[in-house]
Amino acid sequence: MRVLVIGAGGREHAIVKKATASSLVSEVHCAPGNAGIARQAVCHPLSDTDIDGLVALAGRIGAGLVVIGPEAPLCAGLADALLAAGIKVFGPGREGAMLEGSKAFAKEVMDAAGVATAGYSRFTEYAAAAAHIEESIFPVVIKANGLAAGKGVIIARENREAGDALERCLVEGAFGEAGLEVLIEECLVGHECSVLALCDGGTILPLEPAQDYKRIFDGDHGPNTGGMGCYSPVPRVSPALVDEIIETVHRPVVAELGRRGIDFQGVLYAGLMLTDQGPKVLEFNVRFGDPETEAILPRMESDLVELMLACADGDLAGSRIKWREERCVTVIMASAGYPLSASKGDEIAGLDLDGGLPGVEVYHAGTAETDGKFITAGGRVLAVSALGRSFQEARKQAYDGVSRISFAGMQFRRDIAAEPAEAE
Ligand code: AMP
Ligand code: GLY
Repeated sequence: MRVLVIGAGGREHAIVKKATASSLVSEVHCAPGNAGIARQAVCHPLSDTDIDGLVALAGRIGAGLVVIGPEAPLCAGLADALLAAGIKVFGPGREGAMLEGSKAFAKEVMDAAGVATAGYSRFTEYAAAAAHIEESIFPVVIKANGLAAGKGVIIARENREAGDALERCLVEGAFGEAGLEVLIEECLVGHECSVLALCDGGTILPLEPAQDYKRIFDGDHGPNTGGMGCYSPVPRVSPALVDEIIETVHRPVVAELGRRGIDFQGVLYAGLMLTDQGPKVLEFNVRFGDPETEAILPRMESDLVELMLACADGDLAGSRIKWREERCVTVIMASAGYPLSASKGDEIAGLDLDGGLPGVEVYHAGTAETDGKFITAGGRVLAVSALGRSFQEARKQAYDGVSRISFAGMQFRRDIAAEPAEAE
């Protein structure tokens, strides 16, 4: 079978690598892909939101399964268009994808399903939002309603910071349409974790938990990013807690969507805060996380394509997932300027001809190739993942890998998985 993966990041590279290892798969294609993905898959230069182009491509190559990596094509209805053309797809349709595409819709579904989340109010008018802020307890969390590539959330410590954020969203339109409505949320305190689960519309099968690092600098300082590193599993998130989260978050949400006639198929990713009152939802994503995928998939022994096909076929009930015992640590190497901007065209030294390195998995995120050299082509450039019997060992391996790679202005955090490694 031919598999077509949509997207161009480290997440898609990890999915492509798992797909090439599947006994069900003869050929892996990717659109648009990147320089690293091109070593394992046939890449097609199409935008991930070119719905007509992608449906035509899937038909032309006879794809037996299309896997949609990023949120933008899911929210744009790529899964619906593929299904209408009779092509199997892993990922929810546009309506289900609104769980990620509209934070207001996600809140509405959670309210209806009785799922614990931060208290919130919605605003489209600056004056009303500013008046609400006057009466709020700080810090407050201000969120653009729509998709903003992980950058639409501002945690404001005082009135002026909040006012500035509201002005950027509602007056200046800094997040475009995504920010024309904002949510003002109560700020939750606790430890964050991500619990991803495969769904076939009915059955929900959790993946191992992962811990993402959102801020750009060590010690969780600086602005939010798409994610600067990750580890899996998460010692504080026991299997019993995962089950509790599936029963109190994923299951009621999928059931509520079902009541609304939405068959949710694909990955349901809950970003959670573990508070004193139990887990509360920060956000939903309707796809694999990035960099969570780069830390979760190296530990998956089962055939990912078989599992994704089972989701697409509504046949997940009999499936189990087998995991390796080892820990996985993933360090993101980002380009100069990230997350505010991204330096492009800097030569990447240290990678082998295939864009990898022995002893670690190097997943390409923002890379391109010119004259046989790998160069930077985006904010997050590479994800370096390593397995180890302990977090200490995995961490050492991953950072050894990182130390052998260099490019101008590279940024990476030095504290990824330091906490579980110290706790061992
Ligand atoms: P989101 O895109 O909604 O996941 O938000 C990005 C990040 O902002 C989260 O990973 C949290 O670190 C933080 N965040 C979002 N909502 C809240 C909240 N209600 N309380 C505290 N932190 C939050
Ligand atoms: N790592 C967070 C995300 O994928 O949105």
